[in-house]
Amino acid sequence: MRMVDLILAKRNNREHSKDEIEFIISGIMDGSIPDYQLSAWLMAVCWQGMTIAETAFLTDAMCHSGEVLDLSSIGAIVGDKHSTGGVGDKTTLVFVPLLAAAGIPMAKLSGRGLGHTGGTIDKLEAIPGFRTDIPISEFIAQVKEIGMAIVGQTQDLAPADGKIYALRDVTGTVESIPLIAASIVSKKIAAGSNLIILDVKCGRGAFMETLEQAQTLARTMVEVGKRLKRPVTAVVTDMEQPLGNAVGHTLEVMEAIETLKGRGPDDFRELCLTLGAEALVTAGKAEHEKQAREILEELIHSGKALDNLRKLIIAQGGNPAVIEDPSLMPTAKYQFNFVVPGKGEKYISHLDGRFVAEACKVMGAGRSKKGEQIDLSVGVVLQGKIGARVSGGETIAIVHANSPEQFEAASVKLNEAFTFTDAPVAVPSVIRSCVV
Ligand code: URA
Repeated sequence: MRMVDLILAKRNNREHSKDEIEFIISGIMDGSIPDYQLSAWLMAVCWQGMTIAETAFLTDAMCHSGEVLDLSSIGAIVGDKHSTGGVGDKTTLVFVPLLAAAGIPMAKLSGRGLGHTGGTIDKLEAIPGFRTDIPISEFIAQVKEIGMAIVGQTQDLAPADGKIYALRDVTGTVESIPLIAASIVSKKIAAGSNLIILDVKCGRGAFMETLEQAQTLARTMVEVGKRLKRPVTAVVTDMEQPLGNAVGHTLEVMEAIETLKGRGPDDFRELCLTLGAEALVTAGKAEHEKQAREILEELIHSGKALDNLRKLIIAQGGNPAVIEDPSLMPTAKYQFNFVVPGKGEKYISHLDGRFVAEACKVMGAGRSKKGEQIDLSVGVVLQGKIGARVSGGETIAIVHANSPEQFEAASVKLNEAFTFTDAPVAVPSVIRSCVV
């Protein structure tokens, strides 16, 4: 077999066989396929797509390019959740302690920020001392002991994805449904859990901008999961505007803590409850969604979910005092008010998540290249989102910055993020389409 023939085949829209896909993945792993050929093939996949059968072969081959964890010693059900990436997405910080409190062991492998989207591992590092580089044996022992752990994605799991992703990032081949599906599902299967909940983001702040694309991605991942005998549940959720109000590492940890105290923003709380209810029903811990939501609401109300976050922080070496005193996390020097331009009353008709992410990035919250240091203290707390009635001069975002110049740069982006109208606008639902 020759890679050049496989590039031509895909360019001419021919379906690859299992053997051909396995040839490509083993060639990536042993270095016999150079980056220029892999890049050409990735671009051909982007243009021509892949069938479900090819996507499943690719997922399986990527999954088996490294270690596949066996978590059966933890219990019959071990949960994991993955988001396709968004702005202000701190769901894992609530989901893991909440679901663990409901009796589902949570073994969560998370990533760092990618493109314009934030990463859970970076957010957790805002908690002084919190370790995310725990070896797999310790990770499994911690899930057995306290019912949960969140660690960084290791290079040993689905290593082919790491190599492919690095190239996709620099060859304009990120936004491909089969490539995203294989990337996510291969990592989730390799991570060993058998209750996989996927949050497929849709809108300007996500990789999939339209509902149709997001639904196709969700259906593809569910179908691939079925073929590989690892059931996957997917929910398509809104990422037109940021999730919740806080965007920025420390600020998002604070908002997650508030949510576990029962005081978080409505859309974020709704998302956590919807995904959590899906998990409980799928795991057989509740008969239907209504009952599952009641269980989860009680776990928040009683403080058990928050207690679990405390346990998680302690187990991973972090300082649990951040729960009462957020100033122990990196904090920006200044808070500036970003106000509604002009005069008179109006409605926020659109809020572009990508521009809000860029506002944070220009203040140092995002990476321009791999491995770069980021500023965990800066960010934006939105005071108004789509549908809010506001008046000229009123504050609609508080910008946490380390200099007036940073605020100026962020303001340019925020000006582009907000659009106003005179007519009332409906508040959009965070759940776009449930379980596929
Ligand atoms: N998240 C992933 O893990 N992989 C992708 O390809 C896109 C988002």
